[in-house]
Amino acid sequence: MPSALPLGDPAPADGVLPAQAALGAERTPFSLYAHIPFCAVRCGYCDFNTYTATELGGGASQANYAATAVAEVRFAAAALDASGVPRRRLSTVFFGGGTPTLLAADDLASILRAAVSEWGIEPGAEVTTEANPDSVTPASLQTLADAGFTRVSFGMQSAVPHVLKVLDRTHTPSRVPEAVRWAREAGLDVSLDLIYGTPGESLADWRTSLDAALACEPDHVSAYALIVEDGTRLAAQIRRGEVPDVDDDDHAEKYEVADAVLGDAGFHWYEVSNWARGGGSGTAASRFECRHNLAYWNGSDWWGVGPGAHSHVGGVRWWNVKHPAAYAGRLGQGASPAAGRETLDDATRHVERVLLKIRLASGLPVSELDAPPGGGGGREAVAGLIADGLVEGAAAIRGTLVLTLQGRLLADAVVRRLLP
Ligand SMILES: C[S@@+](CC[C@H](N)C(=O)[O-])C[C@H]1O[C@@H](n2cnc3c(N)ncnc32)[C@H](O)[C@@H]1O
Ligand code: SF4
Repeated sequence: MPSALPLGDPAPADGVLPAQAALGAERTPFSLYAHIPFCAVRCGYCDFNTYTATELGGGASQANYAATAVAEVRFAAAALDASGVPRRRLSTVFFGGGTPTLLAADDLASILRAAVSEWGIEPGAEVTTEANPDSVTPASLQTLADAGFTRVSFGMQSAVPHVLKVLDRTHTPSRVPEAVRWAREAGLDVSLDLIYGTPGESLADWRTSLDAALACEPDHVSAYALIVEDGTRLAAQIRRGEVPDVDDDDHAEKYEVADAVLGDAGFHWYEVSNWARGGGSGTAASRFECRHNLAYWNGSDWWGVGPGAHSHVGGVRWWNVKHPAAYAGRLGQGASPAAGRETLDDATRHVERVLLKIRLASGLPVSELDAPPGGGGGREAVAGLIADGLVEGAAAIRGTLVLTLQGRLLADAVVRRLLP
């Protein structure tokens, strides 16, 4: 079951944004996210807004989806114009899911083409699609590259069959290197997603997965601790005692192993769960850091196309209706698919900046801790965080809070100390 949307304020049918949305737009990069809400099989741990063919119902169809998403792209351009937000070229584009590559590559290309025809695109822009390893072919990857995609992010998760089985994954380990090779031959950059801490995964299994990922020579690796989301099949299996629960100590040990193995292979962390090839402390950022995700974490503007997709422009945030049928119905009537929205006040924007920037290797400026309306708070915590080995002392003296390895393991606790 996908999780619920926030409540927020009603969103108008014409999609026009409050005047605040246009403030500072000339100085803020603009990105597009396109959500593709379809999967061949629902993995037992996943609560993303995605539907298998049997779950879909309600008159929604995968075959019409690209046309509906293109309708939202056109709607978005008109709504931003009507809101006085100047047109900006796209700096990054990201197709996520779900499984975007369950749609024909030509469908994904048509959504990208519509976006580029509305806004244009920066030279050298990063254009990513997520993909399951068994949902691509050499030809589909070549079509994507020819259409302007520059990067593919494969959901590898593990290289160990019994772990893939607990995760309900449909691909075999050998499919990943094959898909990566095809992506390379098409000229695409490659990222691999891994999950650690799956019930039954040993430390040796996790090392096997890391080694297998590195053997594919990716440009980027994301490694996520398995989260047991409420309402998922995995949560029910754990409740019934059919599989063991996940364990925080196991997660911490595996994170440390990941950081060491990836570091030895020439990757550096730039966000708590993300490592890029090259770059690293004291040098320029690696060109393989995911610029789209950095746009989110740095509070840039983006329009999210698709059911359940979230958007943010100039401190105004909104989210679309979740079901593909309701989504298509709204756009079919020329109405906004937004279900609700909110205008962020200064205090909320401060909290979000702390939450997001502390997770980045580029760090949180200490001056940010003086910024919140109603007084600072948080700056007093800095000395204690250095003393406890959670932030780098030298960087803090230079004015930026950067998590140590121990701090990355306890990032949520660090945030609680910075936001008293
Ligand atoms: C929503 S998926 C989309 C990509 C693609 N469908 C796939 O699964 O390969 C994006 C990534 O989120 C991560 N993910 C999803 N649910 C998770 C969970 N409960 N815990 C940890 N990571 C999760 C997985 O690593 C996955 O690759
Ligand atoms: S394939 Fe990806 S998006 Fe689909 S259910 Fe599995 S993890 Fe979620």
